[in-house]
Amino acid sequence: MVVGTGSSLPARVVTNADLAEQMDTSDAWIVQRTGIRQRHIAAADETTSVLGARAARAALEDAGLTADDIDLVICATSTPDHTFPATATQIQAALGIHQGAAFDLQAVCAGFVFAVSTADKFLTTGAARRALVVGAETFSRIVDWEDRTTCVLFGDGAGAIVLEAQDEAGNRGVLSASLRSDGRHREKLYVDGGPGSTGTTGHLRMEGRDVFRFAVGQVTDVIVEAFAQAGVTAEELDWFVPHQANRRIIEASADKIGIAREKIVLTVDRHGNTSAASIPLALDVARRDGRIQAGDLVMIEAIGGGFSWGAALIRW
Ligand code: UT7
Repeated sequence: MVVGTGSSLPARVVTNADLAEQMDTSDAWIVQRTGIRQRHIAAADETTSVLGARAARAALEDAGLTADDIDLVICATSTPDHTFPATATQIQAALGIHQGAAFDLQAVCAGFVFAVSTADKFLTTGAARRALVVGAETFSRIVDWEDRTTCVLFGDGAGAIVLEAQDEAGNRGVLSASLRSDGRHREKLYVDGGPGSTGTTGHLRMEGRDVFRFAVGQVTDVIVEAFAQAGVTAEELDWFVPHQANRRIIEASADKIGIAREKIVLTVDRHGNTSAASIPLALDVARRDGRIQAGDLVMIEAIGGGFSWGAALIRW
């Protein structure tokens, strides 16, 4: 079950108007197409592990736990501090966690959903007792700031949750998860560099319209499956916390599944697209403002590069 949440955003806020001073774009275009009004951009010393460690520390405090209580750290990220070691190990060290395993998980924007499902498998098999699941990103470092069709969409940040194993009688935590990948779609959303190809970090490239169509057309399959696996219907859902890429995609997906608009947790207006960090950031917002309560049924869902996509149903 989820016993704590935390998040961290860089102090620097960049509004759409700020971007319009630097490039040929406008607040009206960005808001109308995406719902984004502002995003947070990391300072030079705010690396992914720094943001991730802040979020993880907040989640531990929220759970009332200490470093000694955690025996698994998974960090979902596509913007690691270094090619290796894993950013999760840097978060682990920053928090003073010296037992258990720590590793990164790469499923781009779907990374947090994949990480939650992976952590749950460790907990339900008894391989771990308490997991810190982090989504942390600094996409401002890999977007092409000369490409207005992509750079206006992204922001930086981190979120984390603490998942705890339950005894057999427990009915909280991850109830079901459905994960999918299809590597044939690589060219639609990718980074044009890497250690094994160009030897450079590269920049994000996206065919926005194709991603949009795939997201609205296909992604609902994993949501339907996660509901079916758990024997739950959309009407019974309390909160829909999707990846925050585009307000239009989120609302179209919810409409298609029959999830009422008032059940959607929306943070894309304030955070932009923070890739694997967007869901844990949104979870932390909705839990701290009192929307998500113990016992609530929460659906998380995301799609990203690969394509990889997934959904998980959590009893809070
Ligand atoms: O997190 C991973 C998942 N990623 C996503 O979910 C992103 C999915 N895609 C999208 O959200 C949308 O496709 C975008 C927001 C990226 C673009 O919206 P769109 O309605 O598909 O716009 P478009 O790409 O078809 O572009 C429409 C027009 C073009 O001008 P012309 O060719 O019609 O004259 C673009 O050049 O808007 C122009 N444009 C811009 N104008 C002002 C593109 N970017 C900008 C911009 N400011 N930043």
